[in-house]
Amino acid sequence: MLKFMGIAMLAMVTTAFDTSNFFTSQVNLQNAARVFAGDSYNTFPADPAQLGAIASHIKACSDLYDAAIISLAAISPLQIQHVPLFNDTEAQLLNTTYVPATQLAILNNLNILQAGKAFFESVNNAPLFLTSFCHGVGSLAAETRVFMNSLIVSSPVAYQPYWAQLQSDAAFQYNIWLTEDGFNCGGKF
Ligand SMILES: *[C@@H]1O[C@H](CO)[C@@H](O)[C@H](O)[C@H]1NC(C)=O
Ligand SMILES: *[C@@H]1O[C@H](CO)[C@@H](O)[C@H](O)[C@H]1NC(C)=O
Repeated sequence: MLKFMGIAMLAMVTTAFDTSNFFTSQVNLQNAARVFAGDSYNTFPADPAQLGAIASHIKACSDLYDAAIISLAAISPLQIQHVPLFNDTEAQLLNTTYVPATQLAILNNLNILQAGKAFFESVNNAPLFLTSFCHGVGSLAAETRVFMNSLIVSSPVAYQPYWAQLQSDAAFQYNIWLTEDGFNCGGKF
């Protein structure tokens, strides 16, 4: 009887999720990613003001991934696992706009910064900035992974393979920046 009621309720709620706060979180995250994407650094030695701005823009992206994770949790019905929270129109919007574009804006700019070796040397030579960047980029990597996991389990199946691919692309790149070819974090992030 209880099980039957659960199924009946599920049928009622599947079209009724209020995803507006989540989409607001995506706009905020995309704006923060664009701000970070505008950051550049190409002088040596380090300019602390410039490094400070970049560090805080990375932290903003990390915090906004966290906010998106919380808004996803807030729309999911309690005790019902893996229900698509988005209808196809919304999933399409995420698939064509927010999810790949935000991730690409951030990853591309980390790539651009990495291409200017002075950036990594500057950070690696400045212990407090090194701590800050290892923490900030490490958090961003973790929040991205958790966000993508949350998004995958709450989306229609057709979108899951591409988002899983984006997730593994991000994990691959963050791992490089946090280990062999970026910041000398020594496993601490
Ligand atoms: C999908 O959900 C949005 C609200 O988030 C709604 O405006 C739209 O009409 C829905 N589309 C379909 C096809 O159900
Ligand atoms: C999502 O976007 C990717 C990349 O553009 C595309 O290959 C994929 O087919 C899209 N998924 C759906 C279900 O539309």
